[in-house]
Amino acid sequence: ATTSVTLNTGAIMPTVGLGTWKSKPGQVEHAVEFALKNGYKHIDTAAGYQNETEVGQGLKASGVPREEIFVTTKLDNPDQRHVPEALESSLSKLDTPYIDLWLMHWPAPMTKDGKADKDYDWLDTWKAMEDLHLAHPEKLRAIGVSNFSVEYLERLLKVARVVPAVNQIELHPSCPQHDVVSFCQSKNIVLTAYSPLGSDNSPLLKNTVVNKIAAKYSVQPANVLISLHANKSGHTVLPKSVTNERILNNATIVDLTDSEIDELHKIDETHHFRACHPAWTGWGGLGFPDCK
Ligand code: A2P
Repeated sequence: ATTSVTLNTGAIMPTVGLGTWKSKPGQVEHAVEFALKNGYKHIDTAAGYQNETEVGQGLKASGVPREEIFVTTKLDNPDQRHVPEALESSLSKLDTPYIDLWLMHWPAPMTKDGKADKDYDWLDTWKAMEDLHLAHPEKLRAIGVSNFSVEYLERLLKVARVVPAVNQIELHPSCPQHDVVSFCQSKNIVLTAYSPLGSDNSPLLKNTVVNKIAAKYSVQPANVLISLHANKSGHTVLPKSVTNERILNNATIVDLTDSEIDELHKIDETHHFRACHPAWTGWGGLGFPDCK
């Protein structure tokens, strides 16, 4: 199994990172500190999670030198017209001189009151992110996207000066997104799996195939789901937890066989779900403009 991947910038990104979506202030400081003190080298947050200040406190409290940690954060939808200010805000909240990876959280500009900003094109957001990265690579080491389908990536790549280093999407056996995965692999864009366990109260943790494989390796179902991304695929993966034992546990990766990987990939045929926006019908369905 792989423990790190190389981005198209040349930077090394550790395979397993701590996810912090839904990790609340009051808990997330400790989760980040505990993870870093116990060997994690990669933390993922977002302006939209409203916990960057506390994530920053956890980074400091760990005592781990900043250079040894890979930190990802994301540009929030209502900040798409305010890219330079948003970067400064994240740097200041995280209390760090640089960000390893900054993602456009969704290709979905929003107004400050949370409605679709239909008069604004997210491609202009990408251009502004490129400008910042090209002008200040020491402050913004890599840029990427999140929640991008093939259609959106194709539109972006037609004009991009910087190929996104990463596309962070929901990925687990019940949401394998094979089309996005193969497209990104063909363009040397690393995939990062969010909600790899299927998020809260996930049926995947009770799935018989997942449990059978877990028993074989004497690990928890979560380890099987996390390991799926660290075998051949070259993804990175963000299990979220605010619980000490689980944070410790989730760092263990096992080598899955090809037939086990195939079995896991078949789960989707009978047990498909999306944890994030379950009623997904494309961007138009969410009230945002469809890809032009
Ligand atoms: P908690 O944070 O309370 O520990 P995902 O990474 O797919 O978003 O899943 C996160 C959810 O899975 C959270 O509810 C988290 O709970 C829970 N979780 C994290 N690690 C484990 C584990 N090893 N076993 C069971 N549940 C877990």
